[in-house]
Amino acid sequence: MKKIENANLKSYNTFGIEGYCKNMIIIEQEKDIQLFFDHDYQADERYFVLGGGSNVLFSDFFKGTILHISTDDIQKREETDQYVLLNVAAGTPWEKVTQYALENHLYGIENLAGIPGNTGSCPVQNIGAYGVEVKEVIDKVEGFYLHSGEPFMLTNSECAFGYRNSIFKTKLKNSCLITSVTLRLSKIEKYTLHYADLKKRIDESLQNLSLQSVTDAILMLRNSKLPDVKEVGSAGSFFKNPIIGQEHYHRLLIEFPTLKAFSTNSGEVKLAAGQLIDLCDWKGYREGDAGVWANQALVLVNYGTATGAAILALCKKIQRSVYEKFCVYLEAEVYLL
Ligand code: EPU
Repeated sequence: MKKIENANLKSYNTFGIEGYCKNMIIIEQEKDIQLFFDHDYQADERYFVLGGGSNVLFSDFFKGTILHISTDDIQKREETDQYVLLNVAAGTPWEKVTQYALENHLYGIENLAGIPGNTGSCPVQNIGAYGVEVKEVIDKVEGFYLHSGEPFMLTNSECAFGYRNSIFKTKLKNSCLITSVTLRLSKIEKYTLHYADLKKRIDESLQNLSLQSVTDAILMLRNSKLPDVKEVGSAGSFFKNPIIGQEHYHRLLIEFPTLKAFSTNSGEVKLAAGQLIDLCDWKGYREGDAGVWANQALVLVNYGTATGAAILALCKKIQRSVYEKFCVYLEAEVYLL
């Protein structure tokens, strides 16, 4: 276990924002968890559990303790003719898991290739891309309650997954240390190719469908729209796609007939936040080092030395202009700390 006072968070967030926290505790191996609860946990301290830092915007200073898990392990727990259960330690980079699945011919997460971040965070916001959400393959999530140090194990249904949502963002917000995620991956070849852009790419360029070719198409698609966090700081989609009522949608359609819309289980309509921001002419906008990505308006970027406050100010301007034009409030998907 490592303890750092006044830790610099720049290398712990994909936005590349310079920020500090009062304390940082890095849990490097399983036995550190017990050590932490026995010796370091303080009931009156504010804790924030940080994974790969790919969905967070830091302000200048966090007056609490950041807990960061860096355990890195993938273990096969069960195997049948149909599926494999993989227990993945929370600190394992998600890209390592999609690579493992690719190398071992396991299906279900190929559409989620290229998503930055660590596995422990994937159930929190139920990561999703190109027609697949991680909830479709999560068997269980294990960890510890911060307030008691007691272990927990939540089954898929107990995680209450929704669009970019789960129990870890609602009832259990900021109160759990997730230590591992168990995934149920299929050994039966099956792909999810209905997402319009993916279908087009597959139809155009892929003769032989395989795990490798689908993964390649996904990565090409991602790279064509999203910045590489190793080159330009970002946290992926900054906002959630907003869900509005049918009546509101039909009123908007009269003035904006090109609006993209996706139906939801509740009968409401999910709009594309990127398109709304785009229609407000923010795409490619830059103010100092804070900007809006030119290929996908849903992504705010740090070109170098933008502060958390500058990104937040841009976020608020965008929220205001989208609200004024469409009467739609864009909720941040990124966790604002
Ligand atoms: N659009 C525009 N202008 C833009 C951006 C998008 O008109 O600047 C339109 C597109 O043409 C498209 C629609 O909006 O018709 C949807 O765009 P896209 O397919 O890029 O997907 P998205 O809804 O903007 C979501 C996820 C992404 C994920 C993609 C692909 C959220 C908040 N974002 O974006 O996830 O990669 O779908 O499945 O749901 C992330 O969460 O960090 C993330 C990148």
